[in-house]
Amino acid sequence: MSIYGTWLRPLLFQQDPESIHHRAMAMMRLGLRAPALRRLVHTQMACSHPGLRLDLSVAGRQLHFPGVVGLAAGFDKDAEAIEPLAALGFSHLEVGTVTGSGQHGNPLPRSFRLRWDRALINRMGFNNAGSALMARRLAADYDVVGGPRRPPCPLGINLGKTKVVALEAALDDYRLSVRALASYADYLVINVSSPNTPGLRDLQSEAALRPLIRGIASEVQAVAAGTPLFLKIAPDLSPAGIDAAVDVALEEGCHGLICANTTISRPRLATPWLRVDGIGAGGLSGAPLKTLSLQVLTRVARRTQGKVPLIGVGGIENADDAWQKICHGASLVQIYTGFVYGGPAIVRRLHRGLQGLLARHGLRHISEAVGRDL
Ligand SMILES: Cc1cc2nc3c(=O)[nH]c(=O)nc-3n(C[C@H](O)[C@H](O)[C@H](O)COP(=O)(O)O)c2cc1C
Repeated sequence: MSIYGTWLRPLLFQQDPESIHHRAMAMMRLGLRAPALRRLVHTQMACSHPGLRLDLSVAGRQLHFPGVVGLAAGFDKDAEAIEPLAALGFSHLEVGTVTGSGQHGNPLPRSFRLRWDRALINRMGFNNAGSALMARRLAADYDVVGGPRRPPCPLGINLGKTKVVALEAALDDYRLSVRALASYADYLVINVSSPNTPGLRDLQSEAALRPLIRGIASEVQAVAAGTPLFLKIAPDLSPAGIDAAVDVALEEGCHGLICANTTISRPRLATPWLRVDGIGAGGLSGAPLKTLSLQVLTRVARRTQGKVPLIGVGGIENADDAWQKICHGASLVQIYTGFVYGGPAIVRRLHRGLQGLLARHGLRHISEAVGRDL
């Protein structure tokens, strides 16, 4: 086991998940404040294998990914730790979910560990400082896309709806965020799949999704034309619901999909039922989500037939998991819970493992593996 698994994790896991998350973020920001140190860490952690570097042409924009393992949305909700997180070797960072207005999220406690399952349940409820503040923070450190001062790796910005905004007014809320943030995003994500904002997932129905995507896409066109737009979907949609969401996404101007968010289901858990039941509502992530999110990805990949890039997320703990997602159609993968349980070195482990898998399968480049098991 790693130093993190043997020493650090048991220590960190003695504290409640949300407090330790904030402390870890603060430690990272402080510890990796010096650019020279960040560069040093980056040389140790980053992927350097040419077979894992990915150039994607999305919506006419060229995106250069130095690897394939990115950070999933929700970890850095307010874009506070872009430089230190990039130093850990992530190939891209998806910040957010950010909403039109800042909000506190749900009452505490709202994040729970299921150690026996290497999983988390959360009902954070999009706690974030709002899109205007994120825009100010990004503007202080970076130029808009195309400028010389950009984050060290592609930056995705994941957008959600402010809780107090009615579903019927959701589009205006997303538009607010698009206007504030689109020009800083290498790609944008429409998040309609979090289980923790009441009614949000209803926006995945065809009738609601079509005008929503159309409106967001036209706003993007107006303020930052050419910004790739992804849709992040829930793993709890029915097969027909997935197909409908995919079709609407492609028809209305999305350039890719992210499969998938956390699940409200509780598939076969090792954690005693009383404990799980006691936690209550929330989205489950980590190892128990692996199969479900792979099924969703597979369905989406078959439906989209390689027309748009897919990002696979859910339950990735090792290189085999990441490889499986790639072979089932993902061009890129993301992790959240695996990062919490595996520690910072997991990014390097995943990239090294994928490098080995490429060699074992006699492939020169990761793109050759995309969708080979469909
Ligand atoms: C504590 C926590 C907060 C999350 N917040 C968000 C969020 O704000 N927006 C979002 O799109 N996904 C969010 N997610 C979902 C992750 O981005 C990811 O889709 C999901 O956790 C599955 O990946 P994993 O099994 O690697 O964690 C969150 C997940 C966790 C565990």
